[in-house]
Amino acid sequence: MHYYTYKNDILHCEDVPLPEIARNVGTPFYLYSTATLTRHFKAFDGAFEGIPHITCFAVKSCSNLAILRLFANMGGGADIVSGGELFRALEAGIDPKRIVYSGVGKTEEELRYGLQAGILQFNVESEQELFKLQDVAASLKSVAPVSFRVNPDVDPKTHAYISTGLAQNKFGIAIADAERIYRNAAAMPNIHVQGVSCHIGSQLTKISPFVESLHKLKLFVGCLQESGIEISYLDLGGGLGITYGEEEPPHPQTYGDAIKKEMEGLHCTLILEPGRVIVGNAGILVAKVLYTKAGVKNFIVVDAAMNDLARPSLYNAYHAIQPVIGNRQEKMIADVVGPICETGDFLAKDKELPAFQPNDLLALMSAGAYGFTMSSNYNSRPRVAEVLVNGNGYHVIRQRETHEHLIAGESIPEYLIES
Ligand SMILES: Cc1ncc(COP(=O)(O)O)c(C=O)c1O
Repeated sequence: MHYYTYKNDILHCEDVPLPEIARNVGTPFYLYSTATLTRHFKAFDGAFEGIPHITCFAVKSCSNLAILRLFANMGGGADIVSGGELFRALEAGIDPKRIVYSGVGKTEEELRYGLQAGILQFNVESEQELFKLQDVAASLKSVAPVSFRVNPDVDPKTHAYISTGLAQNKFGIAIADAERIYRNAAAMPNIHVQGVSCHIGSQLTKISPFVESLHKLKLFVGCLQESGIEISYLDLGGGLGITYGEEEPPHPQTYGDAIKKEMEGLHCTLILEPGRVIVGNAGILVAKVLYTKAGVKNFIVVDAAMNDLARPSLYNAYHAIQPVIGNRQEKMIADVVGPICETGDFLAKDKELPAFQPNDLLALMSAGAYGFTMSSNYNSRPRVAEVLVNGNGYHVIRQRETHEHLIAGESIPEYLIES
């Protein structure tokens, strides 16, 4: 459920008509709805009411400070995967004791940063990372709180690029190796073993893979406890899917009920790392039609491109396209493409759409997750503005980049400059 609706044929975000924002901010821009973000966060977090839990929002899905702050105000923590995300989370006011740090390739500097910030736990993904963390913690005379990300070898039945919990994926430690690694870690002077983690993939539309992995984790926690290793945090990762088109993912409450049932008998705080399910349908990308081309195929050339929204090019992902002024009856089958010099630069392919004309505005729906955060400057295109609506008002929460931003940090060596 989201707050993007037509009023008198004009697409609104909450109470704000989109053409008004486009006039003042220019296009393209990402747009987010506070009411939708709040509703989704509460629906997800509320689904775990009754058991000790922390909802650590996956910063990678949408990392704007204002949005992180909104979740922090509702008691949210953060799941981070880089020093940059840690910086953002702290700047947004997220309590370090509600931050978990995942990722297969944390550098020594990043481990140090996390330790100095006093985060809740490192989700360690390899034995070598454990050794590095022990060294860094020793050098700081501190103790690192550790959970290992174990790979439960469960098929999440999602796109191969966002499937992470299979034995052949690069993530985590095989359960078969994990018990030995836990025992070694428990004996290390600067490591405090406290949790077990997993994250099996993204955009899951069935509950069974989550329950299957939690079941495996539960058995594993039992084995650890038998060998005297106490586990106080169980981190189930993120991954709950959303509706982009035809998908029918479970409601967060159904997901929460199934997880709570499987957690019975486990005396651990549950950590969850949702991203997409909270922000996906709360954000859209608004673009303007530049030109149309008719021929063997029809093309609608817009001012947004694969650098602004990578998901269609990267995963062949579907984003519904809605006209901002919704009264055009005539339809056409067309590709929606951007100005980038790549045939792979498309936002939609062979879709039935309103017969858009130059200067029409269109909305790429469900673009709140992995939209702006995956954007780049490819083709030297400044990254677009981000706007947050709240009721009948809105704020630019990230300015559109300028040409100066594009070259900030670059320089021409003296020897190349002719006198
Ligand atoms: C470790 C980890 N946690 C959480 C997430 C968030 O996943 P989603 O946005 O599907 O909820 C991801 C995404 O890939 C991840 O890698």
